[in-house]
Amino acid sequence: MDVLKKMINCVPQYRVIIFPESGTPLPVKENHTELEIGFGNGEFTVQYAKAHPEILLYGIEISQACVLRCARRAAGLDNLKIINTDARHMLPELFEDQSLNKIVMQFPCPWPGNAHAHRRVTAKDFSDRLAAVLKVQGVFEMLTDDKDYANEVWKVLGSHEALNPEDFIINPARSITTKYERKWLEQGKEIFKLTFRKIKSFTVLRRTSQEMHIKIKKQITEENVAALKNFSGKDTEKKSFWKFGRFFIEGNNNEKNIFLLEALTSDDEFEQKFFIHIAPRDEGFLIRPDKNSNVFLTPAVRSALNDAAEKL
Ligand SMILES: C[S@@+](CC[C@H](N)C(=O)[O-])C[C@H]1O[C@@H](n2cnc3c(N)ncnc32)[C@H](O)[C@@H]1O
Repeated sequence: MDVLKKMINCVPQYRVIIFPESGTPLPVKENHTELEIGFGNGEFTVQYAKAHPEILLYGIEISQACVLRCARRAAGLDNLKIINTDARHMLPELFEDQSLNKIVMQFPCPWPGNAHAHRRVTAKDFSDRLAAVLKVQGVFEMLTDDKDYANEVWKVLGSHEALNPEDFIINPARSITTKYERKWLEQGKEIFKLTFRKIKSFTVLRRTSQEMHIKIKKQITEENVAALKNFSGKDTEKKSFWKFGRFFIEGNNNEKNIFLLEALTSDDEFEQKFFIHIAPRDEGFLIRPDKNSNVFLTPAVRSALNDAAEKL
């Protein structure tokens, strides 16, 4: 991550891309900060940021290709910051409660069917997270071409304890449009714009606010760490999965080695790859996420660390 960050910072048009750090919420502009989730090619996002130099605009996009496309369009803009991550999982880790004036989602995939319900904005976790990071009186705006999805969002978010359904507009007049919007309009489809206002304070648990260190009172050898290779575990209830991979050794004293063990985790499809740092401390060893990995302490990461400690 650090090497990529340095490389990207050397190229002016890519300075708009930011790399959030675990445990450090993003700075906001007190009087007006907005967020767009799933900005696609970034055409709307860049035009909107140019038209509103007085605001700070964040964009979150899960696709790396889209982030790079948007960054190229955004050269020279200093009121737009874009992040390559999964908004569903990362909203509360990136923003403090009551920090955003507006959150916009334009033409998200409606994810039809029960199997994908957890990906929709109507999933309880997602709507709670949106509600937490909005300021009281802030708004969540969603545009869609899918009538059923519009009705579902209107009903579900409209009954959220912290959100008030404010507007349901069909074919709104808009000065800036998105790529998908133009596509649907050309096909003669209707566009639905839904607005919800946050009416009272609301919070969610932050999963990554604490550091995690596990002490074990025994000596750990190369053989112990090697035995973890390819070991995997899962917690079906929490939708977490973890797997250990290769390991590296720092040092050459068999009793004082530091090990870096590769781990892959997934929390409900939110994947992270990082190193577990295993180092001698007092009479035993200390196990923690490696500081250079900048990993977010999700349930799967916690389980991976606990599992490694138990098995070592
Ligand atoms: C149908 S496209 C719409 C793009 C753009 N808003 C437009 O109207 O042209 C949906 C976008 O949301 C992004 N996306 C989907 N899930 C996401 C998530 N969990 N976090 C951030 N972006 C996401 C996709 O990569 C895709 O670019």
